[in-house]
Amino acid sequence: MKRVYKMDEDMGRLLLYSQKRIADEVQRLAGEISASYAGEDLLLVVVLKGAFFFAADLARQIRLPLAIDFIELSSYNGTESSGSVTITKDLETSIAGRHVLVVEDIIDTGLTLAFLLDRLRERSPKSLRVCTLIDKQERRRVEVAADYVGIACEGGFLVGYGLDLDEKLRELPEIYEFI
Ligand code: IMP
Ligand code: MG
Repeated sequence: MKRVYKMDEDMGRLLLYSQKRIADEVQRLAGEISASYAGEDLLLVVVLKGAFFFAADLARQIRLPLAIDFIELSSYNGTESSGSVTITKDLETSIAGRHVLVVEDIIDTGLTLAFLLDRLRERSPKSLRVCTLIDKQERRRVEVAADYVGIACEGGFLVGYGLDLDEKLRELPEIYEFI
């Protein structure tokens, strides 16, 4: 399907996904997750900082007993992944024996997520899955996939709804392609 862009010339960015589109995807994902884990408790592992808006909206629509913890990773310099990932803030809770759902804002090369999944697997969760709002599948450099995908996207550098360019523009309620 052809993407519809609205120009926002002053800011040099194009509106890609509206608040309504994002809300619809969040609701759909929450429904899928609630159905998959019915009868179980779930631990959301939110990847800071980008996923925090998404996780806040998603968590409030999931109909399961939830616990929420945060982890912060660093790998990006400007608009390109540097490839070397580190944990800058670790989880506060143990994930051993628990159903863990990683909540990501966006998967690009996959390097960050692959690193995170390796680290989390070492801690023996009962199950480990991934939910991402945006998936740039065509940009993958390592084989890693999300179990729950909001929007599959071709590429470009996106900002808004948590996504930043050098820590700016996270607060935009919609998602824009930066040009
Ligand atoms: P990856 O390691 O290349 O998959 O990048 C994953 C991380 O890079 C995400 O969790 C984001 O924080 C950031 N990132 C990737 N693509 C974008 C983008 O288009 N806009 C803003 N941040 C991005
Ligand atoms: Mg980021």
